[in-house]
Amino acid sequence: VVEVVAAAGEGDVVVADHSAIKNLPTLGVGLGYRERYRSDLFLNRSSVDFLEITADHFFDATGEKLEELELLAENFVLIPHGLSMSFGSAEGLDSAYVEKFAGLVEKLNPPWWSEHIAFTRAGGVDIGHLTPLPFSSEAVDVLCRNIAEAKKQISTPLILENISFNLRFPGAEMTEGQFITRLLENSGAGLLLDVTNLYGNSRNHRYDPSEFLDELPLDRVVQLHFVGGLEQEGRFIDSHSTETPEPIWQLLAEVLQRCQVKGMILERDENFPPYPELRRELSRARQLFKGVPSQ
Ligand SMILES: [Fe+2]
Repeated sequence: VVEVVAAAGEGDVVVADHSAIKNLPTLGVGLGYRERYRSDLFLNRSSVDFLEITADHFFDATGEKLEELELLAENFVLIPHGLSMSFGSAEGLDSAYVEKFAGLVEKLNPPWWSEHIAFTRAGGVDIGHLTPLPFSSEAVDVLCRNIAEAKKQISTPLILENISFNLRFPGAEMTEGQFITRLLENSGAGLLLDVTNLYGNSRNHRYDPSEFLDELPLDRVVQLHFVGGLEQEGRFIDSHSTETPEPIWQLLAEVLQRCQVKGMILERDENFPPYPELRRELSRARQLFKGVPSQ
């Protein structure tokens, strides 16, 4: 059981246990599992080192869905990735949701699990999508309190993902980089760095992604996400609908040079291509991943 152990600064909620993140195994390169690619994955077993599954799709699972999960688990390392934990909700977590998540983690025994730095629920209402938080100490405290609550039931190491956002909430007391740093330091969580989200936010909010990386504790980056999106009127839309474009490959190369990443996941969700196209991207990612001496 992880407790709130100390107060680092005025009002800071600290639940950190950093050792778990440091010793995670290296998994390699994989795909965000989508049902339509099930047979392709079994036919091309060696094209991925592991899979990320959307945890929510396996809660309250039917017999058929459970069989699918068992078959996947027998053949691949599965990382559960959540959509609706809503760590940023000031009202606290939905205990039934945490319980379902804990059940799945117990079943799969993964090296880590992941969620977003966001809220999806407010005042008991499900907003239905990942909403950014103001970059304030109060928001860091809410996140840490909720993370501590989840850790009581899920002791497996947690990594948190940076989201893409169009709107910046008012009330920012720090930059996004400082916000994430403080969150990782106080919660003990690792970072799931979505490189596409970093690229899109840096384009849309006009900042240098390398300078953003300078602000982060890079030794806490555990996993990456990458995929392509749409260009629309000079803005980058995070649609997960195209192949990874050159500037994102370049940013991935920089991140891999600077961080000891344990795994990276291609996260395609729209405009699904035939599997060989994904396989090409996966093998390019593998070249990059293996080309870094520290991996
Ligand atoms: Fe992502």
